[in-house]
Amino acid sequence: MMLCISVLCAPVSVGRMWKWQLHLLLCVCAAEVARGQVRYSIPEEMATGSFVGNIVQDLGLDVKRLKSGRARIFTEDSREYVGLNSDKGTLVVKERIDREELCAQVSPCSLHFQIILENPMELHSIVVEILDINDNAPFFADKKIELQISESAVSGARFSLESAKDPDVGENSLQRYTLNPSDHFILKLQSRPDGTKYVEMMLQTALDREKQHEHKLILAAFDGGSPQKSGTMHIHVEVLDANDNAPVFSSTLYKASLTENSVKGTAILKVSATDADKGTNAEVTYSFSQITDSVSETFDIDPSSGEITVKGKLDFEKSKQFEINVKATDQGGLTDSSKVLIDVLDVNDNAPVITVMSFSSPIPEDSATETIIAMLNVKDSDSGKNGKVRCSINNELPFRLKTTSPNFYSLVTDQILDREKAYEYNITITATDEGSPPYLTNKTLTLKISDVNDNAPLFEKGSYTAYVMENNAPGMSVYSVKAKDKDFGNNAQISYFLEDEQINGLSTSSYISVNSESGTIYAVRSFDFEQIKEFKIKVKAQDGGSPPLSSNATVTIFIKDQNDNAPQILYPIQIGVSQVAEMVPRSADVGYLVTKVVAVDVDSGQNAWLSYKLLKATDRALFEVGLQNGEIRTLRQVTDKDAVKQRLTVVVEDNGQPSRSATVNVNVAVADSFPEVLSEFTDYTQDKDYNDNLTFYLVLALAVVSFLFIISIIAIISVKVYRWRQTRLYYKSNGNLPVIPYYPPLYADVDGAGTLQHVYNYEVCRTTDSRKSDIKFMRPFSQSALNVDVSGAGTLRMETKETEVTDECSEVR
Ligand SMILES: *[C@@H]1O[C@H](CO)[C@@H](O)[C@H](O)[C@H]1NC(C)=O
Ligand SMILES: *[C@@H]1O[C@H](CO)[C@@H](O)[C@H](O)[C@H]1NC(C)=O
Repeated sequence: MMLCISVLCAPVSVGRMWKWQLHLLLCVCAAEVARGQVRYSIPEEMATGSFVGNIVQDLGLDVKRLKSGRARIFTEDSREYVGLNSDKGTLVVKERIDREELCAQVSPCSLHFQIILENPMELHSIVVEILDINDNAPFFADKKIELQISESAVSGARFSLESAKDPDVGENSLQRYTLNPSDHFILKLQSRPDGTKYVEMMLQTALDREKQHEHKLILAAFDGGSPQKSGTMHIHVEVLDANDNAPVFSSTLYKASLTENSVKGTAILKVSATDADKGTNAEVTYSFSQITDSVSETFDIDPSSGEITVKGKLDFEKSKQFEINVKATDQGGLTDSSKVLIDVLDVNDNAPVITVMSFSSPIPEDSATETIIAMLNVKDSDSGKNGKVRCSINNELPFRLKTTSPNFYSLVTDQILDREKAYEYNITITATDEGSPPYLTNKTLTLKISDVNDNAPLFEKGSYTAYVMENNAPGMSVYSVKAKDKDFGNNAQISYFLEDEQINGLSTSSYISVNSESGTIYAVRSFDFEQIKEFKIKVKAQDGGSPPLSSNATVTIFIKDQNDNAPQILYPIQIGVSQVAEMVPRSADVGYLVTKVVAVDVDSGQNAWLSYKLLKATDRALFEVGLQNGEIRTLRQVTDKDAVKQRLTVVVEDNGQPSRSATVNVNVAVADSFPEVLSEFTDYTQDKDYNDNLTFYLVLALAVVSFLFIISIIAIISVKVYRWRQTRLYYKSNGNLPVIPYYPPLYADVDGAGTLQHVYNYEVCRTTDSRKSDIKFMRPFSQSALNVDVSGAGTLRMETKETEVTDECSEVR
């Protein structure tokens, strides 16, 4: 009994009293049963040589018997954990005893062996129970495991874990687990139907990869030994992404602006959306959504970068702003949308446009100021400053632009116009916008100014001087006047007229006619310098305007002298052949003035410059004639031998070219008494009577012939006039009146009876002049006279003409 107690007491430790008591009880039982079997209990892992039991005592043997019986230990498997000390009769630990190695989880664990004695043979069974000590900590096969759990895993999901192992048994074996941290997972200890236990991790609160993409947990296993031992394992939980996040645009509204001239490919802005997910779930593509055609034609979006670029042509004038919906889509089909506002900025790319709404051309030159010429409209499709248009015209023009309402202008006259200064204007209207650089548009209107009769014809000179040689042919052109009119067309069509005035009591037209078209002045009659030396006429120039304007000019016509008159001897008077004789007393001295030949020449100038010469003389040595003064003087002393009757012929010559001359006979009586003279000259008287009679008959005959001639001419003219009137009526009825040369109205006239006109009469008289016989001039005069005028005034004038006829005729005589 005492041995048993000592054995039992060996591993005693304080604090576990009740267990020791149990052991004690067992030992007692074992020792009592063991007449042949002894039981010992020792803890494992005792040092070699440690005491296990005293078999001498417990088997009731003596040490000598052990020696003599050659006691030894027999084991079935030949491993001897326990040895026998024969000297002391004790069992000692011979080899390290590891309960876990020996029995693993079998409990209780015992060593069974026999002690064999010889002489006599004795066999004693020994059982050594190996008691467990907590020499093993729980351990995990893997120190670290990795788990991949989708974030979409629902709570309650379980994940089995590897269990920890503890080779110890009983209290010393694995007792419990802990998991740290435990915010998402808790541990569950589960038993299988066979009783084995395993540990599971259960998801308690859902994972969110986006918050925490991994979790590091430590699983610890504890045994129940004392001191307690533990083992740990690291659990690395990687949260797998689930497409639980939609892409999110960085802004709900993007704004950008770009100019309308931006070229294709210009980047405008970049939209971007982020997706909190990972990997493909975070891959975002961009696109336009719900877009109009215009947007799709104008813009493009890069599906991967989100960059919006210009694709088509922008035109501010068509659309000023684009509103585009953009969509971001991830691979899982989740989307977000945003809006992009693109403002198109105006660029001055449009020139102003000028529209002429109305334009009146030509306008009359007398238009009042502010007369509206044109109405204009200007437009510029640009906006703001680029579309603000100013209009102007070239400054120097007499026009002005008036604004009536925005973008509407009227072009008005600013001054009174004058077609004679400018008959047309090129009005350039310039429209400029205020863009930078500005656009400029020109429009040129050509305005024509129509004529108004505001200018009278103007003669080149106010007065003209013309010279006509006398004895001119009637109808001869004398001069030509010209007037100009600054107006245009009919307003500048000038006709020339002769102002009717009186010259020496006669109408101007009886002297002069004017061609109404050319302004050529014609002499109507032949002028005689001796009758009229100069006269003035007024020519009027009148234009064709309505009302017509006119002006006049004075033409002074000087008649130039011709040597058409021979000198006329005034003294001594020639009466027939006989002549009064001049007396020269015989006592006359040398140089005695016998008489003086007096002659005149109605011409003037050289034509009237007379010289006297002695042509014939009875005695040329006795007399001389003064070359200049026509004085007849004696050259020498008169002698008694000189004849009483001396006859001198003196020629008087003018200085004209060719010169004309007249001769005169001068009778000179050289005597001292009148009766002497008379007797000498009586025969002259008879001569004189005869001469007188002859002259009378001659004149009578001439008068008769002239009268007959006149009568026959009248007859011829009357017949001609009658025939002409008949043809004229015929032409009139056919409307084919030939163009008739124009002659001033007063030039000639004839009343219906066809009475002769004065000019004609004049000419008739002229024919009696021996110098000329211009019968041919009659015809045109009388014809034109008949053509033109049949006014009643003709008769009156006729009467004056008839007096004229007598004048002229007598003059000829
Ligand atoms: C107006 O322009 C036309 C055409 O260019 C030109 O023939 C004409 O001479 C111009 N008139 C004036 C008054 O400048
Ligand atoms: C002719 O002109 C003068 C001045 O040039 C003017 O005084 C006169 O009235 C005019 N006569 C006519 C008939 O036009």
